Amino acid sequence: MTNRGGIITGWGVSLPDRIVTNDELAKTLDTSDAWIQERSGIRERRWGGTVASLAIAAGSAALQKAGLVPTDIDLLVLATSAPDQTFPGTSATVQEGLGLRCGGFDVQAACSGFVYALTTAHGFLELGLQRVLVIGSEVLSKIFDPMDRTTAVLFADAAGAMVLEAVPGEGQLLGFDLGVDGSAKHILYKDNDGFVRMEGKEVYRRAVRAMVESSKVTMERAKLTIDDIDWIVPHQANLRIIDAACQRLHFPMDRCSQTVQWIGNTSSASIPYSLSGELDAGNIQPGDHVLLVGFGAGMTWSSAALRWGGVVREGGHGPNNARFMR
Ligand code: ACO
Repeated sequence: MTNRGGIITGWGVSLPDRIVTNDELAKTLDTSDAWIQERSGIRERRWGGTVASLAIAAGSAALQKAGLVPTDIDLLVLATSAPDQTFPGTSATVQEGLGLRCGGFDVQAACSGFVYALTTAHGFLELGLQRVLVIGSEVLSKIFDPMDRTTAVLFADAAGAMVLEAVPGEGQLLGFDLGVDGSAKHILYKDNDGFVRMEGKEVYRRAVRAMVESSKVTMERAKLTIDDIDWIVPHQANLRIIDAACQRLHFPMDRCSQTVQWIGNTSSASIPYSLSGELDAGNIQPGDHVLLVGFGAGMTWSSAALRWGGVVREGGHGPNNARFMR
């Protein structure tokens, strides 16, 4: 450990305008609103935009909330599973669009990507950088087969961004866990020239196990028990997966962020999107312990325990999103 840490001082989100309901999907696919809601919890999702355009909008909102200008940022870390081009990294387009003057790179760890990016950013703060912009952005609507009902009803598009600033001392990050098991590559993948392929049941089984085990590792490293955790902000793949993981962790669902109903599975965007919503609604307060946990193709998994606190600037807290009110 060094004597520098990081805290989140700004956050922001972006969604495409186009809302796609389950009923709309049922017009072209052999599916129904009832099936989709029962199996996944999803009621609607958003499709549209590019990874860069959503990331720029979310990043801009996060900078504004942190009270910073683009030239204040020392590094951009962009998590995405569906980059706009194979190369350059989509971070290049985001750098140009936001007017950043710093280094930037993409992180690819599928749905675990945001927590990978967040912990990477903390490492750079410990190395001496002052401010890092971390974004998760996805346009998954371009990588699944719109006629494949097993994937088209689940995946969607969004972005979420966080500004991290260096502080003396340990900062917010109390512990983390990152993992990958390539022997399970075949259960969820997309080849360069193909669409997303998924063995849904196997993903489900492993996802619950990975979320529970990774959460336990992180809590142990952070010297916390589940009774110390005030909020869990999980990757939003499927409400049943989230519910099953919470049950196994003995954690109440009403303190677990749930947004999949409204945005579908947005991979690396889902955790920053959900965390931003809970922060905007004032649900997470200084001193609260927040557990972020994700899993995804690879299989990858990632979790991090944060103690919320540090600088909260004007407008940083306050109810402005009814869906997050409790
Ligand atoms: N509408 C109607 N029927 C469907 C649909 C659909 N959209 N999709 C599949 N079915 C059918 C199947 O073909 C199957 O029919 P059959 O019995 O005639 O063969 C039946 O419904 C049951 O299918 P299952 O796959 O057994 O259904 P299950 O209860 O497992 O639910 C689901 C499927 C929702 C995909 C579930 O397995 C799941 O949530 N898995 C995890 C998937 C996931 O979260 N993936 C992304 C996470 S990973 C990440 O985020 C990177």
